[in-house]
Amino acid sequence: MALDVARARAETPGCANVIHLNNAGAGLMPSPVLNALTGHLELEANIGGYEAAAHAADALEHTYDAIARLISCHRDEVAVIENATRAWDMAFYSIPFRPGDRILTAVSEYGSNYMAFLQVAKRTGAQVEVVPNDEYGQLSVEALRGMIDERVKLIAVTHVPTNGGLVNPAAAIGQVAREHGVTYLLDACQSVGQMPIDVNAIGCDILAATGRKYLRGPRATGFLYVRRALLDQLEPPFVDVHAARWTAKDEYVLRPDARRFENWETYMAGKIGLGVAVEYAMAWGLDAIHARVNALADHLRAAIPTLPGGKVRDLGAERCGIVSFTVDGLDPERIKHELAPHKINVTVSSRGSTRIDMEQRGLTDMVRASVHYFNTEDEIERMIGAVRRMV
Ligand SMILES: Cc1ncc(COP(=O)(O)O)c(C=O)c1O
Repeated sequence: MALDVARARAETPGCANVIHLNNAGAGLMPSPVLNALTGHLELEANIGGYEAAAHAADALEHTYDAIARLISCHRDEVAVIENATRAWDMAFYSIPFRPGDRILTAVSEYGSNYMAFLQVAKRTGAQVEVVPNDEYGQLSVEALRGMIDERVKLIAVTHVPTNGGLVNPAAAIGQVAREHGVTYLLDACQSVGQMPIDVNAIGCDILAATGRKYLRGPRATGFLYVRRALLDQLEPPFVDVHAARWTAKDEYVLRPDARRFENWETYMAGKIGLGVAVEYAMAWGLDAIHARVNALADHLRAAIPTLPGGKVRDLGAERCGIVSFTVDGLDPERIKHELAPHKINVTVSSRGSTRIDMEQRGLTDMVRASVHYFNTEDEIERMIGAVRRMV
């Protein structure tokens, strides 16, 4: 069934103000999320922060159930963490690497993840290796298979890169990881909320995501999934009185569930808002969202080559709602800044976020326009029209 775009827009206050094509930066919050957030902040101001948390205990707990249903896991396998980077870090830095261990990653890996690989490699003597792309520009599953040996400790891949519409073949990668018993960490920061995600179908052991992007949740929210079978083997890089119990002077016991990766003080309003955002996305239906987002992105990709010198830069056999492009003779930053007075939001992806990919393609910057289901074809045409007037 087609998604009711008019209702989606009516429930999104920002639609009245901006043409928001920066949903991969931060999606516009829908009213139910905004209301949950402000409602809890008001409660905190009125009755006290700890008291408000006690009052909202059910809503806070519900966030775990909502996330578990979203990605098809158990609530005990979910940690709510302040962003995707820290969620990813908490799992990654828990893995005990030894000299000679190999970490296999993708060409389009996110900068923060890649720098963490470099840091761990420096500390432990592990090696980072980049799996080449196939002819579509996505991670080559055949190349990955050929690189596996007994020293491969981790496959860590970004599902949808920060700088474009590519969707890496996450489930085929999971198949290889399972065949060889290798731990598989998926950065799903840019995919969660715009397409159905099932950790069992994908076969990942660890998944990190953020709340503010395609889930349309509050900023400074995110979550981590860690498969039950792996939980006991991972000692978090930091512990506190929430992650563990201090049981004797020289002893502590970690929580048995994924909350061992959380910390005590947290953004309660955001955590509630994240749960509401997840429920809100599921109420629309991830299949319906996926179909609408892809249709809008295809519309945009078809329009870009009509601009003189316009080039779509997205790679991959499968693409999503993120559209990267350049226009000959126009600096991407200029495009972004000249769209802003028209209340059109896009952003610029620069080399440092996905250095390996950008260097391979000889690119320094690209415009990134990321659509969501509440956007319209008319908004896309207005953006294209505004760029056309700059050429
Ligand atoms: C692929 C990818 N991973 C991780 C992140 C970091 O997410 P967060 O800002 O929530 O830490 C981003 C943010 O743009 C991203 O694009």
